[in-house]
Amino acid sequence: MENAYKVQGGKILKGEIELAGAKNVSTKVMIAALLADSKSVLENIPEIGDVEITMEICQALGVKCKWLEKNILEIDPTTLNSYKVPIEYSGRNRTPILFFSPLINRFQKAEVPFAGGCTIGARPVDFHINAYEQMGAKIECLDGLYRVEANSLKGTIIRLPYPSVGATENIIMGAVLAKGTTVIENAAIEPEIEDLALFLQSMGAVIYQDVNRTWIINGVDKLKGGYYRIMTDRIEAASFASLALANKGDILVKGIDQRYLLTFLDWVRKVGGDFELKKDGIRFYSANDLHSAVLETDVHPGFMTDWQQPFTIVLTQAKGVSIIHETVYENRFGYTEALNKMGADIQLTTHCLGSKPCRFSNRDFYHSAIITGPTKLSGTELEVPDLRAGFAYLMAALIAQGESIIKSIDKVERGYENIKERLQNLGAEIE
Ligand code: EPU
Repeated sequence: MENAYKVQGGKILKGEIELAGAKNVSTKVMIAALLADSKSVLENIPEIGDVEITMEICQALGVKCKWLEKNILEIDPTTLNSYKVPIEYSGRNRTPILFFSPLINRFQKAEVPFAGGCTIGARPVDFHINAYEQMGAKIECLDGLYRVEANSLKGTIIRLPYPSVGATENIIMGAVLAKGTTVIENAAIEPEIEDLALFLQSMGAVIYQDVNRTWIINGVDKLKGGYYRIMTDRIEAASFASLALANKGDILVKGIDQRYLLTFLDWVRKVGGDFELKKDGIRFYSANDLHSAVLETDVHPGFMTDWQQPFTIVLTQAKGVSIIHETVYENRFGYTEALNKMGADIQLTTHCLGSKPCRFSNRDFYHSAIITGPTKLSGTELEVPDLRAGFAYLMAALIAQGESIIKSIDKVERGYENIKERLQNLGAEIE
């Protein structure tokens, strides 16, 4: 069967797994490279679907992209010759809207199709649009695309209604070549954004962080190409760590950076799992039975919304009643229905089961989950709804009794490099 994995569950997974470069940095630095007037070389870029799509968009715009070696990508933006991101990229991933800045800077205009990505909520782009209008761009919303025009962008003070990762990155990319100073208040400060900022700084940008979620960027006249090695993927790290706990396995995650996992590592211990720092990575295991937890997802430095799905599988194996309050996306628990069919006991509610301020209060969104465990899971047929839920299904299939078929697996491969081979190396039976 095409585009599906057959998984035999119940094997204890042991061994080492090497982290790939961060998906959510790779596509951003590729686009940032287009702001320069010379070539950039980017290291540790994972060879995944999202990178391929971004590369295709760059190439469709005339940019030369070349793999110099495995995971080392050269981007030559000097041949950029079109201001139109082709409409067929509408809905493929989240990147098209991030092309605003490189295209405005080169052509004083841009045409960009509506964004796509995982279906985990409405995922509007109003913050991006409002911010670019504040920076002086004229934006029209046409049939399936945005048409943007600006002779140049100008620095201003932008206060985001919510610390959006994508909007912060998009504004930063506009601000580095804008006239004057841009201040982004209530901005996102995820490590992935800092990585993007470090690359831009290496290219000649003047960019720094101030207290209280503020970025300050002093626009410069031009940027040159840079050489940058991006961070490893902290979502992969938490995914593999969760797998070790749920599976009662013993996995050394190599290339992991403890600095980006402070919050996650605490939760590993809070549910009764453990980890050990080694020279080249962190070893995850659970010597004792797991117990329940009450947690809420949040923006950095909180518990990431992208850790929620693998950790839900951990909690199905923990003794007691666990609660997760999802405060970042309104619709990120749909995947749990299939887990219940496998034997999990997960109830959803529209109530805010937590104490953090939440935009989804009284809005009829099923954004809190009550997970009772431990539950035995049994193999079944699953259809991947989105990337992280897909990884959670893979985990569920790996700990379940019997065989599972996981369909639309390309949605997982879009974000996890060579995932089948890497899990097979741990002893997983996947075809
Ligand atoms: N939002 C708005 N208006 C906007 C932008 C965002 O209302 O203009 C809302 C969203 O609807 C959401 C919240 O703000 O409720 C946060 O969205 P954000 O903009 O921060 O998310 P994103 O930039 O679209 C990135 C990652 C996601 C990750 C989130 C949160 C990429 C390509 N995607 O999305 O990663 O969950 O930040 O950390 O960087 C994934 O990797 O599987 C994934 C979904």
